[in-house]
Amino acid sequence: MMSDNILPSQKIFSIKDARELSRKRLPKLVFDFIDGASGDEKLAEINSKALDQIRLEPKVLRNVEKRSLKKKVLGYEFDFPFGFAPMGMTNLSWPGADSMLAAESARNNIPTCVSMASTTTLEKMYELSEGHSWMQLYIFQDENFVMELLDRAKNTGYEVAILTVDVPVLSRRTRDDKNGFSYPFKIGPKQFFDFATHPTWSISTLLSGIPKPMNYVTSKSGDGIFKRKESRGSTDWDTLKRVRDKWKGKLIIKGVMSPDDAKQIKEAGADAIQVSNHGGRQLDSATAAINMLPLIRKSVGGDFPLIFDSGIRSGSDIVRALAFGADYAMIGRPVMYAMGADGRRGLRRIVEIIKEEASTTLGLVGLNDINDVTSNIVIDSTVNKVDY
Ligand SMILES: Cc1cc2nc3c(=O)[nH]c(=O)nc-3n(C[C@H](O)[C@H](O)[C@H](O)COP(=O)(O)O)c2cc1C
Repeated sequence: MMSDNILPSQKIFSIKDARELSRKRLPKLVFDFIDGASGDEKLAEINSKALDQIRLEPKVLRNVEKRSLKKKVLGYEFDFPFGFAPMGMTNLSWPGADSMLAAESARNNIPTCVSMASTTTLEKMYELSEGHSWMQLYIFQDENFVMELLDRAKNTGYEVAILTVDVPVLSRRTRDDKNGFSYPFKIGPKQFFDFATHPTWSISTLLSGIPKPMNYVTSKSGDGIFKRKESRGSTDWDTLKRVRDKWKGKLIIKGVMSPDDAKQIKEAGADAIQVSNHGGRQLDSATAAINMLPLIRKSVGGDFPLIFDSGIRSGSDIVRALAFGADYAMIGRPVMYAMGADGRRGLRRIVEIIKEEASTTLGLVGLNDINDVTSNIVIDSTVNKVDY
């Protein structure tokens, strides 16, 4: 395990603080790319509100001195029940943000999911995370590129791949369109003004070099260019079969919101499903991801691994997700807010806060072992009846 002397940020006391501080430090175009959602953006809020409405029952006189957050998933034992969700272009939040995520996952023995559009190569991420990396992929037009990345991942030592399937078409992201956020970047007068009015970010980012999707840049096949808006619409059940045939390691299918799809994905040989609505960044008229979790749990059965993301904004949200049927949780924007606010120190602090909140919640519902969390801790009237 890597040791270092990084002190947790003293500026951050909650995910809300981290968001607010990152909003100030980051250019609007970058903050909006992180914070934004699709269409009317309501779903991102709905995700968190629905989690919030799950109310847990305090239990007393249980001796909760020896609490443990260790959680097994896919045959691995992690020290905490959450990891870092895959996010592209992470280094926009702070130079070296990917490396921070990798180091923090090694330090805490939790997984970090490396986006296909990551700003550090998958090889470097694996090394920095001391093997705690899972490789995430989309299938664009060029399936060969994905197969090449799977070969690279295998040769590096990766054991887990994630195929994200909820972006057959990229949704409309109003804020990105308004700000002229695109990749490859185009810097016109509007963007120049945005950068000039956020000099701390601009100077450090320019000095470190504009973040690039490094898996593309280092690719042997393809043109090395990440075309964010390119269609991913041809991905179908046959594609899943080809990926399953190719990848002999563990395969997670991410972005599933339908109990029927979940059942079929399980039958197609996936090892786990990540229940997610992409943090409200895809189908804006979908429901909160947490609402689908118990239904998907029912359709795949009690033993099939389910990972959950979308809307988690506290350690108690993680406990809520586990109570609703998840085996493990992934966190997206909160870690970007934390790094956007205060770099490595911010990330360290947010991880500490989430751990502490999860542990406190566990104790207050009268449990010592996170593996004992079930729907019994939920106040009955809220199970499957989340209104917003
Ligand atoms: C800035 C950003 C970039 C993302 N990039 C990817 C990506 O490359 N691949 C992917 O599968 N999901 C991506 N996601 C979705 C996250 O993995 C995750 O599903 C979502 O952020 C979880 O919701 P939360 O942000 O409310 O925690 C991205 C999300 C954000 C905020």
